[in-house]
Amino acid sequence: MKNVLITGGCGYLGSMLATQLISKGLKVTVIDNLMFKKQTLKHLFINKNFTFHEIDVRDLATMKKFYNKNDIIFPLAALVGAPLCEKNKKAAKEINEDSILNMAKYLSKDQRVIYPNTNSGYGISEKQKICDENTPLNPISLYGITKKRSEEAILERENSISLRLATVFGVGYRNRNDLLVNFFVYNALKFKKLEIFEPNFRRNYIHLRDIINAFEHCNTYFQKMKSNIYNVGLSKANLTKIELCKEIKKILKETKIKIIKNKSDPDKRDYFVSNKKIEETGWKPNIRLQDGIKELISAYSSFSSSDYDRNY
Ligand SMILES: NC(=O)c1ccc[n+]([C@@H]2O[C@H](COP(=O)([O-])OP(=O)(O)OC[C@H]3O[C@@H](n4cnc5c(N)ncnc54)[C@H](O)[C@@H]3O)[C@@H](O)[C@H]2O)c1
Repeated sequence: MKNVLITGGCGYLGSMLATQLISKGLKVTVIDNLMFKKQTLKHLFINKNFTFHEIDVRDLATMKKFYNKNDIIFPLAALVGAPLCEKNKKAAKEINEDSILNMAKYLSKDQRVIYPNTNSGYGISEKQKICDENTPLNPISLYGITKKRSEEAILERENSISLRLATVFGVGYRNRNDLLVNFFVYNALKFKKLEIFEPNFRRNYIHLRDIINAFEHCNTYFQKMKSNIYNVGLSKANLTKIELCKEIKKILKETKIKIIKNKSDPDKRDYFVSNKKIEETGWKPNIRLQDGIKELISAYSSFSSSDYDRNY
């Protein structure tokens, strides 16, 4: 049986990934310092193949014991998003970059690493240009810079894959409602209003469960896919912000859309992304944007706002 280590496994992506891998019979160890919700993995403790440890990934001496024992590592622990990293610059560098560089140096070459980068590093691309994996990453925010450096370190070792993820949406065990689609659906539902800046800035989106399927796909076809970078997004959801609002308004018809001037995203993002490379390996997303919006509406209508977290 393969042993899997997920750092940051209590987070939005990690808790869904741990749940899926346990359901497939893998042995999963989660490391997390429990910065946010503590109960995202409560449902897994009944499974004998699941173990959890409250540890900070910066504690290399302790982490080495876990690196030694595992065949596949998903290093997800991070301060995620530009605002959180700006507020905690030192910790952002230590967690998002130094801990990954230390891990990459320490692992043996046979161990597998599947790393999640952000595609926000594509920054502002030329109009009409579609970013593929050869487009240089040019991150502006500390978040993007630390993730880029970690991707480079990960890919210097032999058995690694880096996924450049689009903005994730959908309901999870931890619900991040700072992510754009989640945040807009929440606001449209609760306040019937969407206030947006940079309305024509383009972005790519992807459902949480499709990301988890992409992680699994990389593990299944690892030998064929290794030593590569893949964009992972929903090719049909390369949309400007205003187009995204209109998709939400198709379902929440009373939503009023207001454009705000003189405000901008700290992580400048205006690009469309090609996901062709991973699609050519046989992976394809299953969840349409409209279905994700409906799922979010159903969840936001059922739970209290205290069930939703922001990363800042
Ligand atoms: N969600 C997205 O849209 C997206 C897009 C691209 C890349 N990613 C990457 O995917 C990964 C997971 O993102 P997420 O959305 O699940 O974020 P998240 O904030 O929900 O999860 C991060 C987890 O890491 C843990 N953590 C933070 N610092 C730690 C430390 N020092 N030691 C141990 N654990 C620590 C937190 O407690 C949290 O559970 C990150 O590496 C992120 O950069 C996410």
